[in-house]
Amino acid sequence: MSENNVKVAARYVNLREIAPEGDDVLVVGGGGREHAIVKKLRESKSVGTIFGAPGNAGMDVVETGIGATEIDKIVSYVADNPNIKLTVVAPDDPLSMGLVDALEARGFRAFGPHKAAAKLEWSKAYAKDVMRRYGIPTAAYGTFTDIDAAKEYVKSGEFPVVVKADGLALGKGVIICSSLKEAEAAIDEIMKDKKFGSAGNEVVIEQFLTGYEVSLLAFVDGEHYKLMPTSCDHKRALDGDKGLNTGGMGAYSPCPVFTKTLLEKTVKTVVEPTVAAMIKEGAPFKGVLYFGLMVSGDEVRVLEYNARFGDPETQSVLPLLKSDLYEIFNAVIDGTLDKTDIEWSDKKSINVVLASGGYPLSYKKGCKISGLASVDNDVNVFFAGVKQGENGFVTSGGRVLCVQAMADDFACARRKVYENIQKITFEDCFYRKDIGAKL
Ligand code: AMP
Ligand code: GLY
Repeated sequence: MSENNVKVAARYVNLREIAPEGDDVLVVGGGGREHAIVKKLRESKSVGTIFGAPGNAGMDVVETGIGATEIDKIVSYVADNPNIKLTVVAPDDPLSMGLVDALEARGFRAFGPHKAAAKLEWSKAYAKDVMRRYGIPTAAYGTFTDIDAAKEYVKSGEFPVVVKADGLALGKGVIICSSLKEAEAAIDEIMKDKKFGSAGNEVVIEQFLTGYEVSLLAFVDGEHYKLMPTSCDHKRALDGDKGLNTGGMGAYSPCPVFTKTLLEKTVKTVVEPTVAAMIKEGAPFKGVLYFGLMVSGDEVRVLEYNARFGDPETQSVLPLLKSDLYEIFNAVIDGTLDKTDIEWSDKKSINVVLASGGYPLSYKKGCKISGLASVDNDVNVFFAGVKQGENGFVTSGGRVLCVQAMADDFACARRKVYENIQKITFEDCFYRKDIGAKL
C-alpha cells in the first residue's frame, strides 16, 4: 500500500485486532446508510468487532463475503460466531424475506421488523389499506390485480395520477402520469411487461399530491416510539430537482419548514395511529419506521412507509445522535424504549452523495478514488459503491461516497461539505450543488 492508502485505511478501516472488547455485531447491508450505522455503533463501549454482510471496503467491519439477501448463510454465520450478540438488518429486501424472523427462530437477537410488520413497506397496497382502515391521512387510491379494472379506474380520474407497483422496486416503481395515455402505458409496463417483476402483480393507483416532502423516522419497539430529527431527501439526479429519480443524492436534517406544530399534529394523526394499527394487525412494528410525508399548508399525508432507516437521510440523522445506538437497538428488541432516554444534538447536518457519471443509468466502475486522506477530521465520508483495488479504493457502484458535516447552522455545515468534496476526485464524479442551498 502507498503511504497515502495506509493513512486512508487507518482512518476508515479498523481491523479486527484493534477492536475493543464487547459484543460483536453483524450489520446486514453494504451502503452509505450501513456505514453511518456502523460508525455510530463503533462509538458504543459495549460493541466489539463489527461484521458486515456484505459490508464494504471503507467500513469499520470484517467483511463476511455474504450478501444481504443470503438469508440461510447469514443465519449460519451467526450460529457459527456466538460472540455476535446482535444482527442489525438495514435494507428492505432481507426484511421482506423474513431475515429477522429466521434469526429469532434460532434464538438470535435481531434489530428490524418481522416480515409481517415490514409489509408496510414491501406491499404498498397493504400499507394503503392499513391507512384506510385506521384513518391515517393519505392520498385517495385504488388497488388492482386486474389490468382492465386498473385501466377503467384511471379513465374516471383526474390527472396527474400516480401508478405504483405494489412490491419492492428499488424505489423505481412509482410513475407519475400526466395523461390517460401515460397512465395506461404505466399500467402495461408494470402489470403486463412486468418491468419490476412480481412487484407488479398488483398496482396502487393514487391521487397526485402537491406540497413538500419530509422524512420522519422513529425507533419503535412494538408499543413505544422515539422520534428522530426530521430530514429531507433529494431524489432527483440533478440540481433544481431535475433529471431522473435516484436512490437519493443528498439530505439534510432537521427540516426547518416542518414546524413543531406540524410535528405534533403528525404524531397524533400518523405516528401513534400507525404504531397502534400494527398492534391491532397482529404485527407489532419493531425497528425503524420511516414515514414519508407530503406536507401542504397544515395538511400532512403519508406518501409511503419504509420499514427501515432511509438512505441517504440516515447519513445526516445518525451523526446527530448523542446516545448509544447499541443500547437503543437493544431497547427496541426488549420493548423498553419508554425507559430509554435518547438525546440528539441540535446541530444542523447535511450530506451530499458523490455519484458515478451516468447514474442512475449505466456508469463506469473501477475508477480510482483520490483525496480521501485530506478530508477534514470533522467531516464524515460514508462509503457506498467503493471497493478495495490493487492501489487503493476504486468505485464499484452508482452512488459512491456520501460526504456529511454538521455545524451550528446550515450555512456552515454546507460550506464544510462542499469544501471537502473539492478534495475528493474520481473519473466522471458528479454531485448535486444545491443540497441545502435554500436553507
Ligand atoms: P413512494 O416510493 O411511494 O414514496 O414514491 C416515491 C416518490 O414518488 C415520492 O417520494 C414522491 O416524490 C413521489 N410520489 C409518490 N406518491 C405520490 C403522490 N401520491 N403524489 C405526488 N408524488 C408522489
Ligand atoms: N430515501 C428514501 C429511502 O430510503 O427509501
